[in-house]
Amino acid sequence: MPTPSPTKPGVYVYPDIDGMSRAAARALIDRAREAVEAEGRCALVLSGGNTPRALYRLLATEFARRMPWGQVDLFWGDERYVPADDSRSNFHMAKETLLDHIPIPPANIHPMPTTHPDPEDAARAYDALLGQRFPGPWPRFDVVLLGLAADGHIASLFPASPALQVTNRRVMAVQVPAEPPRRLTITLPVINHAAAVFFLVAGKGKAGSLHRALVGPCDPVTCPAVGVRPEAGDVVWWVDEGAATFLGPAVRATSPP
Ligand code: 6PG
Repeated sequence: MPTPSPTKPGVYVYPDIDGMSRAAARALIDRAREAVEAEGRCALVLSGGNTPRALYRLLATEFARRMPWGQVDLFWGDERYVPADDSRSNFHMAKETLLDHIPIPPANIHPMPTTHPDPEDAARAYDALLGQRFPGPWPRFDVVLLGLAADGHIASLFPASPALQVTNRRVMAVQVPAEPPRRLTITLPVINHAAAVFFLVAGKGKAGSLHRALVGPCDPVTCPAVGVRPEAGDVVWWVDEGAATFLGPAVRATSPP
């Protein structure tokens, strides 16, 4: 697969979410295996929402044997501040579609805590966990999975949120204009220290926010995805035709993997 340059993201468009998820799964496995080959471990950040479900199901079934689960550590990019067994929980969604179906050691699974009475304490606990697991001020995730909402938010970094300006925290507790309103989220510096960011975007409802993110007019405050510029990593957009409705040929990679 051609490696997109850090300056120019790879935008790969597929007829439907299944084709998109299949290609993204293959690329994710390639990155994970390269990381394990090079470092002995791989650290992945899972996204919430609905779009990743198809990818997670593929990783749990057809592609399960290709991922070195014993050497893979799973983290989350954001979490709704609800119990882990709540249907709105991102951990719950990943558990249902992936975690319950793969031979991953429980010690490799690092959900964001949602049991502290104060979400700020939960944010600080996960921030500390990342500080312990990774040397230096910022974790170096091998791949961060992100979705893109119709309103432009990524993880739980919403347009115009003060959390977008934070440069001294790995994890924040935020109040967001969506249900449920209390959430935990990684910050932009964490995303921008990743080796790779994979956006998963599907459906016509995302066409506007995707066009703004890739073509503009937009800025990192009104469109958080524009602030995703890894210092030493690449960005790959895995997109279906519905979300790509407004994207012209110049934006689309000519040869999707
Ligand atoms: C969440 C996600 C969020 C999501 C987008 C897209 O907790 O909801 O992390 O950032 O990725 O809202 O959601 P869909 O994939 O459901 O469209």
